[in-house]
Amino acid sequence: MRKDLGPKAHLYPMPVLIIGSYDENGVPDAMNAAWGGISEADEISITVAKEHKTAANILSSGGFTVSIADRDNLVAADYVGIVSANDLPDKIARCGWTSVKSERVNAPLFEELPFALECELVSFDEETDRLVGKIVNLSVDERILTDGRVDLSKFAPLVFTPDYGYYTLGQRVGRAFFDGKKIK
Ligand SMILES: Cc1cc2nc3c(=O)[nH]c(=O)nc-3n(C[C@H](O)[C@H](O)[C@H](O)COP(=O)(O)O)c2cc1C
Repeated sequence: MRKDLGPKAHLYPMPVLIIGSYDENGVPDAMNAAWGGISEADEISITVAKEHKTAANILSSGGFTVSIADRDNLVAADYVGIVSANDLPDKIARCGWTSVKSERVNAPLFEELPFALECELVSFDEETDRLVGKIVNLSVDERILTDGRVDLSKFAPLVFTPDYGYYTLGQRVGRAFFDGKKIK
């Protein structure tokens, strides 16, 4: 028998996105966001509460980065999700990440996070808190690449589950756009 749990915005799993932004003085900030994903070929949409420093930063700077948190950065990734730059302006110094300015958008990349989308602000809806960005580049550190592709034996992305868990991925169990052909 199935059970109705109501209209919950839950998926298993959800991403652990780290949104990087600059405030009006160029001070870097980062926040953890699980309620987001790709919404067009070159577009990402993320729910960012308007009270967060990140929202104000992006509205003034016009750009942001979206990194994927990984196992090596779990503690810092969680930290940037529980501390606000509204309360602690040097939050990034505390978490130990090294920020460098993106060459394409007005936002920081973090050297410790090897996978990042560089995004320009498209819109921010203050009613729904929906942030939409145009993806202008995917920046990947060579240390997680093999033959030009992201190698999951070198990079362990974190995923979030709505019961407040962080997990890493399990083994590859199939081939996309291919295995379904068995019953096509
Ligand atoms: C696992 C996790 C997921 C989160 N997902 C979101 C989210 O999708 N949207 C959001 O607005 N806040 C989310 N948060 C909360 C923000 O990351 C948090 O409030 C942060 O301190 C905001 O930082 P800022 O004020 O410096 O921008 C999440 C926090 C955690 C730990």
